[in-house]
Amino acid sequence: MYMQLGFIGTGYVGLVTGVMCAHIGHQVVCLDKDGRKIEKLKMGDCIIYENNLAEYMNQQITKGNIVFSSDYQDLQACDVVFICVGTPSDENGGADLGFVKEALLQCAQHLPDSCLFVIKSTVPPTSCQNFQKFLQDKGFSHKIASNPEFLREGSAVDDFLNGARIVAGGDLHSINIIRNIYNPLIDRGVEFLGVDTTTSEMIKYSSNSFLAIKLSFINEMCDLCEELGADISLLAKGLGLDKRIGSLFLNPGPGYGGSCFPKDTKALSHIAKIHNIASHVLDAAIDSNLARYKLMRNKIRNIIKTPCIITALGVAFKAGTDDIRESPALKILQLLADDGYFIQIYDPVAGKDPANLGISRVKICDNIENASKDSNGLIILTEWQEFSGIEYEEIGKFMSQKRLIDLRLIADHSRAKNAGFDVYRVGAKEKL
Ligand code: UGA
Repeated sequence: MYMQLGFIGTGYVGLVTGVMCAHIGHQVVCLDKDGRKIEKLKMGDCIIYENNLAEYMNQQITKGNIVFSSDYQDLQACDVVFICVGTPSDENGGADLGFVKEALLQCAQHLPDSCLFVIKSTVPPTSCQNFQKFLQDKGFSHKIASNPEFLREGSAVDDFLNGARIVAGGDLHSINIIRNIYNPLIDRGVEFLGVDTTTSEMIKYSSNSFLAIKLSFINEMCDLCEELGADISLLAKGLGLDKRIGSLFLNPGPGYGGSCFPKDTKALSHIAKIHNIASHVLDAAIDSNLARYKLMRNKIRNIIKTPCIITALGVAFKAGTDDIRESPALKILQLLADDGYFIQIYDPVAGKDPANLGISRVKICDNIENASKDSNGLIILTEWQEFSGIEYEEIGKFMSQKRLIDLRLIADHSRAKNAGFDVYRVGAKEKL
C-alpha cells in the first residue's frame, strides 16, 4: 500500500531516498529551504552527481509521483516525514544538531500529530529520545523514529534497491510503519531489523566506524608490506578469503575521506568520551588516517624531490562521485602546494572550479594529456576507471620526467614500465 512521504533536505540522502521511495510506489514531496535548489529540481535538474539518479528522478516527475517544494504547508497530507538535513561537526568533533531541530520544529508546527517523524540524518545515539523531549517541551506529541541510511555515494541507487539491511528504531507501531514503506524491498530479500531508537543510531555510527577501522588497518598493513617487501594486494586477498574478515573494504589508499567517515568517527569518539568510555581502537584509526596525508606527501616528496610541476589524477574523495568534501586527494595536494609544487589537476567530474579546491598553485585541466604537459610525475589519487587505461606511451611524450605514483593500485603498471616510466605503487614489493 502506498503512503504519502515527505523528505526534508534535498541533499544527498534526502534526494536519493525521496526519488527511490517514489520509485517503489509512494507519493513523495521533497522539501528544501533553498529555493534555488527546488527550482532546479522542478525542472528535472538532478543537482547531485549520482549514477542513474537523474533518470529515476525524471521518470517519477513525469509520472507525478514526486514533487518539490520550499513550503512546509505542502507536507500536510504526509503520513511520514523523513528528516534528511545535515549534521556537521561542531568545534569539539560532536554533531551539530541545529538543522535537525529546526526541521522538526517546522514539521511539528505544520503537520498533524498523526504524522510520524523519522530521523534519517546521522545523529548521535540518544538523539531521538532527546528530540522527542524537545518537541514535548514545546507542546507537540508527534512520534519520532530512527531509520539510518547506509547508501554509498556513487552507488546509492543500487544500494537503496539491494541494500544489506534496513534498520528502523522506535516503538512497535513506528517500526511497522517504516516496515510498510520498505515492503517492496523487503519482499525482494533485503533484511529488515526493528530495534529501539538508540540502538538504531548506534548501528549507524558503529557501521561507519568499523569500516573506517578496517581501512586504517589495511593502510597500515600496506605500509608494512612496502617496508618488508610483501605485496598488499595479495595480502588483502589472503585476508579477505576468511569469511569472518570479508574481502570488501580492503583496498589500501591515501586514507578515507568523504562527508561521512571522518565526521562520524570523530562524533562517536566524542560521545564515548562524554560517557567516560574508552574508544582506543576508534581513536587509533582516526589518528592513523590523519597521519596518512602527511605520510603520502612524504612518499611523493621522496620520489619527486624538488618542487616542480606535478600531475594530480583525481580530486574526488573516491571514484563515482563529484564530492570533494574531506577528500584525501585534496589534503595531500594542499601539503604539496605548500611545499612549492605546482599541480596540474585532472578529474573526470570533480573539482572543476579551482576556487572550491582551497589550494593555491593549481591548474585545472580537461584531460590527462593537458594535465601531463611538462609534468615531472603522474600521481593517481582517486580510483577512476579511466586511470586504469592510461596510454603511457602517448602521455609520456608530454612529460618532463616519466614517473608514476599510484596511491590507489589501479594503474596498469606493466604498461607504464614498458613505456619507460618509473613506477611507485603503495604497498608493492618493487621499488622505483
Ligand atoms: C559511507 C558508507 O560506506 C555508507 O554505508 C554510508 O551510508 C555513508 O558513508 C554515509 O554514512 O552516508 P561513502 O562515504 O559514500 O559511504 O563512501 P565509501 O564508499 O564508504 O568510502 C569512504 C572512504 O573510504 C573513501 O574515501 C574511499 O576511497 C575509502 N575506501 C573505501 C578505501 O580507501 N578503500 C576501500 O576499500 C573502500
